Amino acid sequence: TGVLMLIKKAEDIRSSEITPKSLYLNRRKFLAGAAIAGAAAATGLGLREIVSPSATVLAGNKIDGIKKSPLSTTETVTPYKDVTNYNNYYEFSTEKDEPAKLAQKFRTRPWKVKIDGLVDKKQELDVDTILKMAPPEERIYRHRCVEGWSIVVPWVGFSLSELIKRVNPTSKAKFVEFSTLLDLAQMPGQQRNVLQWPYVEGLRMDEAMNPLALLCFGMYGEELPNQDGAPLRIIVPWKYGFKSAKAIVRIRFTDKQPINSWNISAPMEYGFYSNVNPNVDHPRWSQAKERRLGDFSKRPTLMFNGYADQVSSLYSGMDLKKNF
Ligand code: MTE
Repeated sequence: TGVLMLIKKAEDIRSSEITPKSLYLNRRKFLAGAAIAGAAAATGLGLREIVSPSATVLAGNKIDGIKKSPLSTTETVTPYKDVTNYNNYYEFSTEKDEPAKLAQKFRTRPWKVKIDGLVDKKQELDVDTILKMAPPEERIYRHRCVEGWSIVVPWVGFSLSELIKRVNPTSKAKFVEFSTLLDLAQMPGQQRNVLQWPYVEGLRMDEAMNPLALLCFGMYGEELPNQDGAPLRIIVPWKYGFKSAKAIVRIRFTDKQPINSWNISAPMEYGFYSNVNPNVDHPRWSQAKERRLGDFSKRPTLMFNGYADQVSSLYSGMDLKKNF
């Protein structure tokens, strides 16, 4: 019990949590399909624009000038409703349907991000200054949780390297550490010791500089919903989802490997690298397969979550069973 049991393997997710939703979605898709296709033809908008939530989500926080990225997958995007109501965000709750409610009033402005450690100039940047550092791109990535479920999300952001280049880490910096906001008043989950707070994650510098690593502030053409990590998070698509820290307030450059929160809570289960690897089982379950939210059956999990071409050279010569 306790922390170890909080992460559910795919088999433990009650089928009632998955099946009715997919049935519902499939039926809706079928019924809506003809109407949507007709509308797309009539308006000249692409199918994706009509199906995407920009028309239905009325937060009014559309991001302008988003460029499409060649790094996107062409796989079917997971419905917005599923992605924003099935979240791991332990600062709010360990239940997946609760962050959507509990994070509703979370204040994401004003928001400062501290840049420190081994950099030329330690500084505090306003999140809106960071957002202007490079043009926003849509990156449709596969996102694979260590628990065995996966989603395909059109994130909005730009390569983390754009920020790193601008803040000038020194030549001694070998790693970069990300910390989430610590705020017990706003984040009720932090009153429980399920993890060490604040949530800390880290990357090796060459991983962080890989063009796939995304500094993310939006999804589906809009600003990130709070439950998905607003106002700023990272997305590291070749690693298990827990590496992709939400609500970042500090980016620290260091010469030592950062100690990530999940590694502290269960060192035998969650390592520093956490690369998606179907050949290395979690001590309590296999990682060979995954269930895409909305699907009935499982599909094989791909090495580095399908991003091997872009990232496998980062790990050449490393024993991936040891460096899990
Ligand atoms: N970041 C913070 N700060 N707190 C968290 O609990 N959960 C991680 C990751 N980032 C988490 C976090 C896990 S386990 C996953 S799978 C992803 O966020 C889920 O991201 P999503 O809710 O946007 O799909």
